[in-house]
Amino acid sequence: MPLSIVILAAGKGSRMKSNKPKVIHDVAGKSMLQHVVDTSKKLNPEQIIVVIGHESEQVTDVMRGQDLIFVEQTEQLGTGHAVLQCNDELKPGNDILVLYGDVPLIKLSTLEELINKGREDNVVSLLSFNADNPTGYGRIVRGKNGNVSAIVEQKDASEEVLRITESNSGILYMKGSEYGELLSDLDADNAQQEYYLTDVVKHAVRKNHNVDAVICDDETEVLGVNNQQQLAEIETIYRCRAATRLMDQGVKLVDPTRIDIRGKVSAGHDVVIDINCIFEGNVELGDGVEIGANCVLQNCKIGNNSKVQPMSIIDQSEIGRDNSIGPFARIRPETKTLDKAKIGNFVEVKKSLIGVGSKVSHLTYIGDTEMGEDVNIGAGTITCNYDGAFKHKTIIEDGVFVGSDTQLVAPVRIAKNTTIGAGSTITKDTAVGKLVFSRAKQVSISGWIRPAKNK
Ligand code: UD1
Ligand code: MG
Repeated sequence: MPLSIVILAAGKGSRMKSNKPKVIHDVAGKSMLQHVVDTSKKLNPEQIIVVIGHESEQVTDVMRGQDLIFVEQTEQLGTGHAVLQCNDELKPGNDILVLYGDVPLIKLSTLEELINKGREDNVVSLLSFNADNPTGYGRIVRGKNGNVSAIVEQKDASEEVLRITESNSGILYMKGSEYGELLSDLDADNAQQEYYLTDVVKHAVRKNHNVDAVICDDETEVLGVNNQQQLAEIETIYRCRAATRLMDQGVKLVDPTRIDIRGKVSAGHDVVIDINCIFEGNVELGDGVEIGANCVLQNCKIGNNSKVQPMSIIDQSEIGRDNSIGPFARIRPETKTLDKAKIGNFVEVKKSLIGVGSKVSHLTYIGDTEMGEDVNIGAGTITCNYDGAFKHKTIIEDGVFVGSDTQLVAPVRIAKNTTIGAGSTITKDTAVGKLVFSRAKQVSISGWIRPAKNK
């Protein structure tokens, strides 16, 4: 049967003490709900329905454009009530997987296992776990034969049931042929006067349907978030998982507790990453790449054997092989450096091509520039690319040498092998191989007296 996924996300999350609904708080730079949606999509469901309630506009705003169906639950009368709100949207006959918007670390493989269990002869399959501390969770009650017979909420549980450690994650799979009837059996006759989704188990058992559980052996996957402390714990777990994956690829992390991977990082052999680096989006690191401390890399590619020195930022750019970047370099979007280039300290590069072996070593801004091979840019050079309204290009051909403290006023072309004298403001194209400078002649004034204050 095709699959419908229902994600419960109507809760307010008052303990977050935030104006934002809980499920749009971020873990690793992405909302918790987005994590759940991304995992859901990998199961190829026919539909994903998100039940929203508190500040629902904020949720739909953050999640728009993703082919999600939003269902409003105006009053939160329980998890069963939440699923019942989806009746009009649910494709009849589809199996249903219920997920929680505030349980973001659930793994695809675990959900696949649960679905496979559901596709056996079971009408309800639930995901349970053995909690270190089960307080607050619904407990899984099993009959003499070991079969699941009910889920009992903490507030409804007897002393005996409270001693059970097998706990309900809340994640649940139901057969399409039966769930309608099971949901219509729900009532609010319990300690919290809520419609408990978990009661489908009791009703299924009463009707002699099979119920089974997959026991998740990693409690961290089913952790929910109720407050900022738990959100931080989830972030830490996410960070550890990502660091472990990277080390499994053979990367040396100087300290795996001090790296943040908020996207996908792929790495070649013998990559070393020093402490406190942040990786976002898709980052590709070639063989032998070294990343110094405190770097931020977003959606970029670093070629083999290139070194990124501490405190550097690289965003939406491609660094060639054998480059040296930083320390304190800022490489902004649409920059590409070819092999053996050098971008040194306090250099900002934007939307530019840096040719093979070219060096921009100190205190410089290069923007909207096309630079050839073996160019040397002196300290304090600025490409003046903006006239207040439009951006213009600077072309610097092969073998050019730019003296320090030079302004290249774009649009301008510096021809091959030009040498520019230090302190020049270049506003016109240059000719091949010439020495070019534009500066006032040095003069010496005799008899001049330096101003001094009267004592
Ligand atoms: C639920 C389970 C419990 C399980 C626990 C795991 C029930 C009755 N109990 O309890 O067995 O151990 O989760 O964390 O299901 N929600 C809505 N609308 C509602 C109520 C809840 O969207 O009307 C959403 C909440 O935003 C939350 C999730 O459903 O994301 C769970 O709700 P919560 O109130 O936290 O359920 P628990 O009492 O913790
Ligand atoms: Mg809860």
